Amino acid sequence: MSTLNHFLLISYVSIYFFFILQFQPCFSINVPPLINQICTKTKNNYFCVKTLTSAPGAANANLTTLASYSLKSTYAAVATTDAFLVALLPNVTDPRVKQVVTHCRTNYDGSILPLQTAITSLDEGHFDDVSFNVNQGLTNINDCDRVIKVGPPPPGLPEKSTHVVQLVDISGVISVMLLHQ
Ligand SMILES: *[C@@H]1O[C@H](CO)[C@@H](O)[C@H](O)[C@H]1NC(C)=O
Ligand SMILES: *[C@@H]1O[C@H](CO)[C@@H](O)[C@H](O)[C@H]1NC(C)=O
Repeated sequence: MSTLNHFLLISYVSIYFFFILQFQPCFSINVPPLINQICTKTKNNYFCVKTLTSAPGAANANLTTLASYSLKSTYAAVATTDAFLVALLPNVTDPRVKQVVTHCRTNYDGSILPLQTAITSLDEGHFDDVSFNVNQGLTNINDCDRVIKVGPPPPGLPEKSTHVVQLVDISGVISVMLLHQ
């Protein structure tokens, strides 16, 4: 083999392993089928799989169990981010940053009750109400994310927002699946 051929072979092998390593977490055979079915419908498959496989009893969890876990995770992240915004507000001096924080604070405040209601509605088996309330939360959370992108956001908020956006996306996908199961 020529040096060039050796070089090409090594390049191909490297690229091959690069892809294997990159995509293995998403399409691992260990992902339970239901979780895989949910996560392929979300915007970030890898994040979704990582989140839902952390649910207790994930391997045999049904849609209701995963819905409950997803909603509670979303609610917890919203409550944490809301508290962060409340604590941050008096510290912000730049009026443009203050505008972003105030806007997001209203959005997050408006997401708390719908997400609480969604959790209660799930327990009662009222899937229409779950879906309606998750959508209200989702609209608010995505609106904050839009305003963050217009900016300028305070440090730490974009990461927190992305995290909540991805969680509520999973809850949204599951709530639609609950309606059609
Ligand atoms: C889902 O699983 C939970 C926990 O194992 C169980 O209590 C519940 O009855 C199941 N729900 C459905 C709809 O199968
Ligand atoms: C706001 O400022 C106070 C006092 O300087 C500080 O203790 C707190 O950590 C700050 N909060 C945030 C979210 O930056």
